[in-house]
Amino acid sequence: MDVQAPFPEDLYPKELRAQPLPPPPVSVPFWKTRKGVVGITILAFAIIGAVVGIVVSTEKKSKKSDAKSDSASGAGGTVTALGGAGVAAVNWYNGQQIRLYIQKDDGFVYEATGDQSGNWNPNPTKLLQAKAGTPLAAVTRAPSLIHLYFLDISNVLQEYIYNSGWAKGITPLPSANIAPNTSLAATAWTDSSSDQIRLYYQKQDNTIQELAWSTSSASWSSGSSFTDQAYPGTSIGAVALWYLGNLNMSVYWQANDLTLNEYMYPGWTRNTLQRSAAPLSGIAAITWTDWFIHNFHVRVYHENAAGIIVQDVYDSPPLAGGWSNASTAINLNTLVDVPTPISTTAWANYSDIIIRGYVKNSSNNVHIEFAFSGSGDWTSKELSF
Ligand SMILES: *[C@@H]1O[C@H](CO)[C@@H](O)[C@H](O)[C@H]1NC(C)=O
Ligand SMILES: *[C@@H]1O[C@H](CO)[C@@H](O)[C@H](O)[C@H]1NC(C)=O
Ligand SMILES: *[C@@H]1O[C@H](CO)[C@@H](O)[C@H](O)[C@H]1NC(C)=O
Ligand SMILES: *[C@@H]1O[C@H](CO)[C@@H](O)[C@H](O)[C@H]1NC(C)=O
Ligand SMILES: *[C@@H]1O[C@H](CO)[C@@H](O)[C@H](O)[C@H]1NC(C)=O
Repeated sequence: MDVQAPFPEDLYPKELRAQPLPPPPVSVPFWKTRKGVVGITILAFAIIGAVVGIVVSTEKKSKKSDAKSDSASGAGGTVTALGGAGVAAVNWYNGQQIRLYIQKDDGFVYEATGDQSGNWNPNPTKLLQAKAGTPLAAVTRAPSLIHLYFLDISNVLQEYIYNSGWAKGITPLPSANIAPNTSLAATAWTDSSSDQIRLYYQKQDNTIQELAWSTSSASWSSGSSFTDQAYPGTSIGAVALWYLGNLNMSVYWQANDLTLNEYMYPGWTRNTLQRSAAPLSGIAAITWTDWFIHNFHVRVYHENAAGIIVQDVYDSPPLAGGWSNASTAINLNTLVDVPTPISTTAWANYSDIIIRGYVKNSSNNVHIEFAFSGSGDWTSKELSF
């Protein structure tokens, strides 16, 4: 895959345009310090970056890592129990703030605070109690306005919202017939009039169900009900892109033949990606668009039969115009136990897309961060939690 990178100025300031500016990084007002002038200069610089950079060009510089390909085919890896608790990551201010939600052995969900430099600070506070092995999904609607989804100990789908403090969502989620081992995926966008969230789960009949929320309705309702049989316990990934009055959305899931599949909106057409994932592999996705021309890009992450995290590439026409061949999927050199949950989050840094992914290595209960920094190879490291 080799796509033409637009010029750095081809950047469309999307979500961050209407958002407040980042706070200074220290609690001492920076203009009171001797470094005030430098601080202001750097802050102004950072703000320009944040506003300009949210939606970026293609990652031409990833060519080097593209060269390491992986067939991502075949199934039959060792399947242990259900993949265990999910992971959920969000970021705002272009990765200056990252939050990761994980479940520990005590059944509680915890939050860890990270940043774009890879520093992590696990918060020892118990955030909420969930059923053992809960799936997790999270979105942000604005900087530090977080919606987190999980299953409680009675297997009821719940929402917690962080808005200057955590609180249970006030409108119930109409999650009828939820499969006990469902995964969760959530995606959010802001259209011309309201904030929108879509949440996906698997029903007991193994089909996938959408739930919908918006600021204008201020309540949850059932959205689309898909009819295809998904693999029981499939991971689900979801992305949405609101651009110049159009909504593009995709939902990713695994079919019984282990192939990755996509529902693509508008139309909710079903595409089968010609590649297999390990049974119960995590599935996560990110999307972004170029400025001016409505090219958009999707990257899907899954685990192949050998337990290696693989990136699948979609570039809309007139770029590659579809999914890259399975043979060009990128091997991220991150080997974890099969199966693992995966969550990804991404932001722009001028013309580059910066990607972070999180997986849980179930045999040692340690989380791993894999990272693409806009150029060079993917890296991965074990986190301390
Ligand atoms: C872009 O990335 C570099 C390297 O990680 C970082 O030093 C810089 O602060 C980033 N710039 C912005 C505007 O995020
Ligand atoms: C998930 O639950 C369904 C029943 O709802 C069951 O058939 C399936 O085997 C379960 N999958 C896993 C991986 O435990
Ligand atoms: C994105 O949505 C627009 C508006 O509905 C549609 O015309 C376009 O074909 C979609 N793009 C893709 C790649 O599906
Ligand atoms: C995918 O591979 C097939 C055969 O290997 C080739 O004919 C086709 O052009 C490839 N498609 C893309 C989009 O690279
Ligand atoms: C995952 O855990 C296993 C067992 O402890 C270990 O062999 C493997 O290296 C770990 N993977 C990573 C990427 O750390």
